[in-house]
Parts: sequence; C-alpha cells; structure tokens
Amino acid sequence: MTRGFFIAVEGVDGSGKSGVVRGLVAALTARALPVRATREPGGTPEGEQLRALLLSGGGEGWAPRAELLLMTAARVQHVERIVRPAVAAGEILVSDRYVGSTIAYQGAGRGMDEGLIRDLHATMCDDLWPDLTLVLDVDAATGLSRSRRRLAADALDEGRFEALDLAFHERIRASFRAQAAAAPARHIVIDASGAPDDVQAAAIGAVADFLQRSVDHGS
Ligand code: TYD
Repeated sequence: MTRGFFIAVEGVDGSGKSGVVRGLVAALTARALPVRATREPGGTPEGEQLRALLLSGGGEGWAPRAELLLMTAARVQHVERIVRPAVAAGEILVSDRYVGSTIAYQGAGRGMDEGLIRDLHATMCDDLWPDLTLVLDVDAATGLSRSRRRLAADALDEGRFEALDLAFHERIRASFRAQAAAAPARHIVIDASGAPDDVQAAAIGAVADFLQRSVDHGS
C-alpha cells in the first residue's frame, strides 16, 4: 500500500482555516481520495480534553512553559494515535494547525525559545513534519476583527487566545511567514485576505498541484 500524506493548515486566528479544511475535504472526497480532517490541539479524546483546558481561560491563564507542554502532550497523542496510522494506511490527513502553531504562538507570541520548541518536537513527536503546510496569510488586524465577529456571533468560550493583543498577532503572522520562507519546499503561502470562496479555491488548487507533483515524482 502506498503511503498517504499529512497536510497542515496554519494561520492567524480569523484566517479562514476551518473553511479551508472543510473545502479541502469536500474537494478531495469528490475526487474519490481517502481524506480526513483533524485538528490541534485535539484530534483524540485526550487531546480534546486538553484543548478544553487550554482554551477555557479563567484565572491568570497558563504559564507559557505549561502551555507549551500541554500543547505538546496533545500533539504526542495525536501523532501516535491519528497521524502516523492514517498516513501509514494511505490516507490524506488534513490537520487544522500543527507544530507550526506552537512555534508561532508559544514561540513568537509568548516568547518561548524556538530551538527548545523544535527540540521538544524532535524528541516527543519523532520530528514528524507535515508533507505540506498551507499558511493562510492575512494581516493580523483583519484576522482579529473577523474572529471577534465570529466569537460574538457564536458566543464561543474559546476567546482566550483571540483576546490577546494586536502586537501578539502580528508576531504570529510574521512567524508563519518566516517558517514558510525557511522551508519553502514544504510550505505554500496563500493570500487569505479575500473572500472565503476565493481562499478555499486557492487552497484546493495548491493541494491538487502538490498531490499531482508527488504522484509524478513517484513518492
Ligand atoms: P483554533 O482551532 O484555530 O481556534 P478556532 O476554533 O477559533 O479556529 O486554535 C485554537 C487556539 O489554540 C488558537 O488561538 C491557537 C492556539 N494554539 C497554540 O497556541 N499553540 C498550538 O500549538 C496550537 C495547535 C494552537
């Protein structure tokens, strides 16, 4: 059986990741490809429990070091129970966020050392990186205003990360762009400033090209 693919979708809050993940699953399913969506933090029952703890807020919130370890703990469960088995079974697994978010949020955002985050990933997650990461790029102010509108509309309780300030989100955006620039072969940056349908179409086109290239190269 041929190996599958692991694709991550990253971006600032309000960049339209969830819609892109849904659009990708629909488009690849329509081509009869074995595709599945997952997310971080989360993706496993244990990871979803950690997600609830991480995003519920309250008190002074998590210390950055504790937050890093909890995000990583959720990722260990995800990699071992979902990501590796899916890819080994030949599936295309599309994850709403992965370790790029830890580098961006806990690293650039909260000031944890990026080398430490990468070392932790290497040790705890066997240095498993996505075959392809889509970075949905939109300026932080646009992303924030979109996600504030959505949070108000849904009365969601996941506002803790979104509640942090604009400068924080600027650093997140810059980190995603820097990660893509440092490893261009496995990242595609997509302009996410436009209408959701256009962003989805661009993402679907990018993934279709990537899958075609991979087939052409026999990987
Ligand atoms: P997300 O699923 O994008 O939230 P939403 O449901 O609003 O689309 O992500 C939840 C938050 O978790 C987001 O603000 C980013 C944060 N996060 C980190 O800080 N570090 C990480 O490693 C991950 C995966 C997410």
